Amino acid sequence: MDLAELVGLADRVAREAGALLRDRPVHLKVTSKTTPTDAVTEMDAASERLIIDRILAARPGDRIVGEESGKHDGRDDDAVTWLVDPIDGTVNYLYDLPQFSVSIAAQISGESVAGVVYDVMRDEMYAATRSGGATRNGEQLHCTQQTDLGLSLVATGFAYAAEARRAQADVLATVLPAVRDIRRLGSAALDLCAVAAGRVDGYYEAGMHPWDWAAGALIATEAGAQVGGLNGRPPGAWTTLAANPVLFGELERLLLEAGVSSEMS
Ligand code: IPD
Ligand code: CA
Ligand code: CA
Repeated sequence: MDLAELVGLADRVAREAGALLRDRPVHLKVTSKTTPTDAVTEMDAASERLIIDRILAARPGDRIVGEESGKHDGRDDDAVTWLVDPIDGTVNYLYDLPQFSVSIAAQISGESVAGVVYDVMRDEMYAATRSGGATRNGEQLHCTQQTDLGLSLVATGFAYAAEARRAQADVLATVLPAVRDIRRLGSAALDLCAVAAGRVDGYYEAGMHPWDWAAGALIATEAGAQVGGLNGRPPGAWTTLAANPVLFGELERLLLEAGVSSEMS
């Protein structure tokens, strides 16, 4: 498989979707999904349509899993599966806050092999291929070497369901006094890229979907971070952490102390 071709396609498509999103309608049509606060705008749908059309035009046999439109089955048995988040950070987009991204990952047998996260308003393209390193606008990325939890800036995010948020707030009460500070920036994909780029030292979040982290986790890993769940689990809907390996261990200890079970989503 030509990973450079996959990442090149993802890059071109994400830029095109970004151009569409930059042209934000003044009166944005919005509806809700799982909870009244889980918003979806007309631009989430438009961005996803564009991304799917472009990928299928270039690679008609591939499979696509889009956040807003579900599965599009491919014809080829050994097809690449694309995981697409057409706007990661929809609440920010809704409020005209600049922290949102387009996230596109290519997976083979359930493993991300190429991915991009495009920070639309900063025009920053994060990209990675498996074993090929991670870049931002072509520059190699490296996560920080901070190992002192008390001096670490840690990003996190919260789920949309109130019950999950209550549990996340309880965990936060233990984490906040133990770290330099917390950031809730509003795009999980960009949080993972911030770990990759050393803009934060670490990140944790529970309750994510594959399209939130599939590209960002590859980018963070390729920048030297450890990305995974608690007690050796893989990343996923349960608590997912990202940081350099030493800080990962410290953060994991703190989260377990704070009462996060490895099943927590
Ligand atoms: C959300 C964002 C947010 C994270 C949530 C995600 P969406 O994605 O990534 O930062 O905390 O878990 O669901 O809904 O904006 O695509
Ligand atoms: Ca998302
Ligand atoms: Ca989204």
